[in-house]
Amino acid sequence: MMFISRRFAFARRLLFVHAIGFVLFASAISIVSSTPPPESPQREADIEKRINELLARMTLEEKLGQLQILDGEANGNFRPEHRDLIRKGLLSSTLNVRGARRVNELQRIAMTESRLKIPVLFGFDVIHGYRTIFPVPLGEASSWDTAAVERGASVAAAESAAAGVRWTFAPMVDIARDPRWGRIVEGAGEDPYLGAAMARARVLGFQGADYSQPEKIVACAKHWVAYGAAEGGRDYNTTDVSEDTLREIYFPPFKAAVDAGVGTFMSAFNDLNGVPTSANPFTLTDVLRGEWKFDGFVVSDYESVRELIKHGIAADEREAARAALTAGVDMEMVSRTYNQNAAWLLKEGKLTQREIDEAVRRILRIKFRLGLFEKPYADEARESRVILSAENIAAARQVAGRSLVLLKNEREALPLAKSVRSIAVVGPLADDNKALLGSWAGDGRVEDTVTLLTGIKAKVSPQTKIFYAKGVAIEGRGVTGNYDATPDGNNAGGTNTVQSPETARSATSAVAGNGIEEAVRVAREADVAVIAVGETAEMSGEASSRTSLDLPGRQLDLVKAIKATGKPVIVVLMNGRPLTINWLAENADAILETWFAGTQGGNAIADALFGDINPGGKLPVTFPRSVGQIPIYYNHKNTGRPPVDPANKYSSKYLDMPVTPLYPFGYGLSYTQFRLSNLQLSQPRIRLDGSLNISVDVENTGKRAGDEVVQLYIRQMAASVTRPVKQLEGFQRIVLRPGERRRLSFTLTSKNLGFYNRRLRFVVEPGMFQVFAGTNSADERGLEARFEVVEK
Ligand code: NOJ
Repeated sequence: MMFISRRFAFARRLLFVHAIGFVLFASAISIVSSTPPPESPQREADIEKRINELLARMTLEEKLGQLQILDGEANGNFRPEHRDLIRKGLLSSTLNVRGARRVNELQRIAMTESRLKIPVLFGFDVIHGYRTIFPVPLGEASSWDTAAVERGASVAAAESAAAGVRWTFAPMVDIARDPRWGRIVEGAGEDPYLGAAMARARVLGFQGADYSQPEKIVACAKHWVAYGAAEGGRDYNTTDVSEDTLREIYFPPFKAAVDAGVGTFMSAFNDLNGVPTSANPFTLTDVLRGEWKFDGFVVSDYESVRELIKHGIAADEREAARAALTAGVDMEMVSRTYNQNAAWLLKEGKLTQREIDEAVRRILRIKFRLGLFEKPYADEARESRVILSAENIAAARQVAGRSLVLLKNEREALPLAKSVRSIAVVGPLADDNKALLGSWAGDGRVEDTVTLLTGIKAKVSPQTKIFYAKGVAIEGRGVTGNYDATPDGNNAGGTNTVQSPETARSATSAVAGNGIEEAVRVAREADVAVIAVGETAEMSGEASSRTSLDLPGRQLDLVKAIKATGKPVIVVLMNGRPLTINWLAENADAILETWFAGTQGGNAIADALFGDINPGGKLPVTFPRSVGQIPIYYNHKNTGRPPVDPANKYSSKYLDMPVTPLYPFGYGLSYTQFRLSNLQLSQPRIRLDGSLNISVDVENTGKRAGDEVVQLYIRQMAASVTRPVKQLEGFQRIVLRPGERRRLSFTLTSKNLGFYNRRLRFVVEPGMFQVFAGTNSADERGLEARFEVVEK
């Protein structure tokens, strides 16, 4: 049976109900351009032979040295002890040491003065760019453009490799359903399907088809696993997640990374169902190595091995070392429990030689695959050529443009005419070159960054008058530091402070007294006001959770005051997480979500404000109306009493607020309009192992060229376990000229239709399915069809 209806009656219900999704990434695979590393059995056999030869010659001390990574200085320098340790063969890897000259200096010691000449692996958090900074990952994910994301990662890899850093602690592929959690900014949002597509794109961008190439680096999928499920959105907090939800929601982006050939994994900080993830044999060994056949190495997070003592599953460092190593953490970051205790553990029979050798083997394997033994040094001439090249800067601008999401555009307030007589550019972020870099900005520098004010100045005609007023500073608790500094708070290795504390303080210090009045005065003189508000870079990222998602400080007062002038108000949001912006959603004339758009942010945003590009991004995460709605995500399960009828007292709702989000997952507007029509399925029913083709027309019915992201969601109506009310299973971002129409086609296979049953087996079950094609997850104008999966 097949039913097709013009609009989702169902979607209406979804205004009240959101759903859970799980993923499989078959269709994501076709979107990206690269392919994972070709298996070369001969090369792999040679590597294993060389590892065996090395292992046979290594002392226990040298083996343990391979299991250690130590931190450098925040400015990229190494520490004096590194020289000595490397000379003795006791240090495998460093983090934060960067720059061809410094890296070569240490590497020369390893290659010429150490006994076995095992090269050092230099790692760094190259999260969204090395020196040329791209949008924060949540922003990049808003592009729903895997090719753009792959490109961003490949530029990051080229710059990083040129600086001697051949290992990035990225991509972060943690699913995040709680915007209070500051690290939501580092991932691809709430959805496992989109998350898997982005994970794959990033791994391929960093590693390419072969990461021994000089412009490639080895990637690290982190944080394994469920780190984003921290209770209360408080960083590092406990997680308690059923195996079913792990497999359906949290695992898929990691699996996609493995399928794309990722070389390393990072274990996480969190306790998962009572067993910390840095000592969890189920996730580290049974799933990762057993089920998924991952043969790279796992590095711990920063001191997460020693933290097992604080978690309370190890009484001392000996027990911590044993728990982590035997569970499957190969390399220990910063704490030194392996080095200091493994010999004793071995002697006492609490650790086997085989377990140590296996960890060493996995680490050496990646060093060999990187080609470090053959080409250990960085090329200093190349470094200055590649870093911040014109080509990289152009790519950053282009990708930033793809990541912008238009949330509101009343009466075509945007785009602005370049010939506009006067503009008031207002707000604490309008001329802030720090925020644009976001958290974990690699080696990004404020002086490279184009602010919004600069971008606008470069865009308008010489006659246009530009008035600038900061208005207010971003003040309040949690702007630059801790609300309550903990006495034993460990440095987690963050290098995301690209400004001195002093500069940061002055950037956020209060603007003397009448800042709002001044801003109102300039707005009165102008034809239109562009107001940049949001968060500072420090308000999201690691250890940066918030209990309020409101615009911090007096920013909303500023916007209200400008609105009262009667001038059109264009809000440019810069932020690292969804914010509760109900007043803006009601009252601003236009809202452009720009996240933290990177080195070229100001230019890219100006491109969109003046119509040189047409924003086409979509939200990768739900925007709540209130913190009280959290957790809120589109792919939730139904209840027995869904709030279909608002008058029904006994339904799953709130008394004081709708259950719907402010903006749903997948949402984003354009300067043009699109219409979907003619949804068709290749057949009304398929077998359990069958596949189905779904096609839909999309037409640009407006007057400008523009991009639409057509999204395909499914729902199984009845199965042996409850299923999400909607789950993303396909998307395509396409560009259409005015009047142009295109037919898009999607394929659903058992990978898309299956789920984990009560025995946690992945199965496809017979039954009715709904299919939705829309332009966001709650698209009232979307299309719906049905098909049936039958046994025979
Ligand atoms: C701690 C963070 O959790 C992790 O993401 C990062 O890669 C390491 N520090 C190293 O800087």
